[in-house]
Amino acid sequence: MIDNIQKISDQAVAGISAATDERSLEDARVAFLGKKGTLAGASAGIKDVPNEDKPAFGAALNQARTAINAALDAKTLELQNLADQKSVAGIDLTLPARELAAGGLHPLTIVKDRAIQILRRMGFALADGPEIETEYHCFDALNTPDDHPARNEKDTFYFDGGKLLRTHTSSVQIRTMENSTPPVRIIAPGSAYRRDDVDATHLPVFNQLEGLYVDTDVKLGDLKGTLEYFLQAMFGDNTEVRFRPHFFPFTEPSFEIDVKLTIAGQEPKWIEVAGCGMVDPAVFSSIATQRGDDAFDPENVTGYAFGMGLDRLAMIQYGIKDIRALIENDTRFLSQFA
Ligand code: DAH
Repeated sequence: MIDNIQKISDQAVAGISAATDERSLEDARVAFLGKKGTLAGASAGIKDVPNEDKPAFGAALNQARTAINAALDAKTLELQNLADQKSVAGIDLTLPARELAAGGLHPLTIVKDRAIQILRRMGFALADGPEIETEYHCFDALNTPDDHPARNEKDTFYFDGGKLLRTHTSSVQIRTMENSTPPVRIIAPGSAYRRDDVDATHLPVFNQLEGLYVDTDVKLGDLKGTLEYFLQAMFGDNTEVRFRPHFFPFTEPSFEIDVKLTIAGQEPKWIEVAGCGMVDPAVFSSIATQRGDDAFDPENVTGYAFGMGLDRLAMIQYGIKDIRALIENDTRFLSQFA
């Protein structure tokens, strides 16, 4: 009897090693170890074994099962290795891997992110508004008269039906005041559109960052201090900043802000980076009328606003002479910032 088990075991191990694929291996497993398999048949014979021989018989059965299982495991591994080898046949695994080209941030994104980071630290929250705007949000509510040149068809992209591509991010000032109550302290980075001819300093799509602070006691000194601090945080503690009186319909008084740019070996130059001013009471009045409450009543609140050219900031930061480099997607240019 025990001899018979040994024979079954030997046959099974031989049958399993002869398997050439998963299918024939599974057939062999079922034939030897299955419920109706050879080993099951042999173990049924235990009832005819004399009692004193039963332990030896049981041990032989266990040994056979272990041997067959080991043969199955070995064969499975062998077949897997074979399949692996086949799948990489003809491929030289010792070749060095192809270099992965790492992406990097666009210089405009780097500068924008830094500007946001500095201003958020100063308490400004991010705000947003649509790029396709109404004349009301882009001009009327910002105290811009009908005959203002910015409203001209020659300067602005209009859609049929009177909507337009916003000419500045200042429209977000209006959108924000419609939906919140003072104190308001927001920044709104985003694209603006003008019908400008393309040259080294103009693109019809450009990027601005708008700021608005409205509260009960906002003064011109707050505006000056905030923007000076911001520009020095951007460009270095010793950066010289100058406020030049200017005119904007939505602020009074209004200023343009210049930063002194010093490039080694060149005469220092003042570069305009932003417009700003104290929010004109006429803007608050039109918001008050629109809202029908006195949250922004010019008797109760004052505020300042500013709008900077983000492309300008990037050009100053990196000494870029032609704004077109920012949109040409030439990787020889862009990889310098990665
Ligand atoms: N919107 C102006 C422009 O695009 C820039 C500007 C000036 C924004 C003064 C302001 C401001 O918020 O107060 O030229």
